[in-house]
Amino acid sequence: MRSFAHRQRLQQMGLRRDEFMSRPVIAIINTWSDLSPCHAHLRERAEAVKRGILFAGGMPFELPAMSLGEVMVKPTTMLYRNFLAMEVEELLRSLPIDGAVLMGGCDKTTPGLLMGALSADLPCIFVPAGPMLNDRHRGTAVGAGTHTKKFWDEYQAGNIDQAEWIGLEARMTRAPGTCNTMGTASTMTSIAEAMGFMLPGASSIPAMDSAHTRMASASGERIVQMVWEDFRPSTFFNAAAVRNGIVTYMALGGSTNAAIHLIAIAGRGGVSLKLDDIGRQGAGVPVLANVFPSGNRLMEDFYYAGGVPALLRQIEGHLALDCRTVNGRTLGENLRDAQCTDTETVRSPDNPVTEGRALAVLHGNLAPSGAVIKPSAASAKFLKHTGPALVFDSIVEMNARIHDPALEVDENTVLVLRNGGPIGAPGMPEWGNLPIPRKLLEAGVRDMVRISDARMSGTHYGTCVLHVAPEAAAGGPLALIRTGDLVELDVEAGRIAMLVTEEEIARRRAAWQPTPATRKRGYTKIFLEHVRQADEGCDFDFLMGRETPVEPSIY
Ligand code: FES
Repeated sequence: MRSFAHRQRLQQMGLRRDEFMSRPVIAIINTWSDLSPCHAHLRERAEAVKRGILFAGGMPFELPAMSLGEVMVKPTTMLYRNFLAMEVEELLRSLPIDGAVLMGGCDKTTPGLLMGALSADLPCIFVPAGPMLNDRHRGTAVGAGTHTKKFWDEYQAGNIDQAEWIGLEARMTRAPGTCNTMGTASTMTSIAEAMGFMLPGASSIPAMDSAHTRMASASGERIVQMVWEDFRPSTFFNAAAVRNGIVTYMALGGSTNAAIHLIAIAGRGGVSLKLDDIGRQGAGVPVLANVFPSGNRLMEDFYYAGGVPALLRQIEGHLALDCRTVNGRTLGENLRDAQCTDTETVRSPDNPVTEGRALAVLHGNLAPSGAVIKPSAASAKFLKHTGPALVFDSIVEMNARIHDPALEVDENTVLVLRNGGPIGAPGMPEWGNLPIPRKLLEAGVRDMVRISDARMSGTHYGTCVLHVAPEAAAGGPLALIRTGDLVELDVEAGRIAMLVTEEEIARRRAAWQPTPATRKRGYTKIFLEHVRQADEGCDFDFLMGRETPVEPSIY
């Protein structure tokens, strides 16, 4: 009776019976929307995916899913990553689907799509949105994110006038596609490729390249075969694949956000991953992708150099090459013909981009459960630093005071922002790259030590200690630090601490009161009650692991 209803209703939409009978039904889960500039081309690209599905004898159905345009969503897309993951899982569970093509790329869409698909465990393949094209300004290549931050600081310092700034506004984001630095988007799609979720080389193809359309069609063709092979994520996603993702993350010099997303993705696939595991498994992997913010090239250059396969070829010794990938071959087989055509953009291990690591995990009395820093995008002189704290209780207070000419601050001050974590903000926005006070910018200062329980855009740079856990709003020690306390950062030793006696910390803790949540309805209520801390991936406590959809026998 149920299959009769399905057949009947498909014919209601104008499909002939023999168009769908005995063919794999493929969902194209598309995170396109009119307010997601990085995905502006995905409606059109879905047509190429459909072409590939039909060519291989499948039947495509496009399903819209929550579109998380990074800079458009308030207060932060991170609040909604788990929403997207839930939506994807329930779409795959509730509809009559045999396999799925996942379309996304802007920061939280990649982890959201993968988390949902891993929990549902149906055959799936990822079609990344692809990075936007480079532009040029005064003869130099410019892109999104890192350049925005650099030019903004120069504008604030008075080195760029308003006319130039307005001109730059449009040029830095020249075309549809994801940010063309090694920000969270490119970090996560590259990691997804290394973990086996997409066709080799797919993640770095520019969004506006015709090769991107061909990759979309080829992915559509491949998913049909994956359904016949019953090639589910559980058949290739395991601890070794996660380790490949971590190693790739380090070689990319990738975004700090990836630490959170990797833990959450691994958890959905039944792989236990701790923050310290990332630090340990990634140790000794050099930063080889010479892409902003760790390097000085853009994703288009990375593509011309050979993309992720060329990068992985350089770190083969760190990889589990026998891991299977969605094209049915192993990672090692996929890399056999990979070539690097620009050794300045994809470096060799004996010529790394920087001596700094992509990620260091810190512990201490300020972050008992951990915090992270990206040494490769920080100032070497601050990696071991002691200075007095200047504490802001909220983003509102910080914005009101940070540029006050009377603010007592100098280059050695440690700027601290609290209540920017998963519960405190809520949603853990990218507030962790605290602005340099204008009077210091005008004096030539471009970096300071900054500490927060928030995140930082993967496109940004600076000596920023992020993801402090437990966060202040959950009663973490960050809630107890006061302006004037000395803070010690020692990245080599993995230490972040306030130099305050244990007795004094205990006194402050006894007096501490949590701030009541201001938003208590709808999805935010669920988020506040169930989100885990940053070191645990910020997933919901009731969503860990997977459950294969079972057809209910109610008809
Ligand atoms: Fe979408 Fe940067 S805003 S990837």
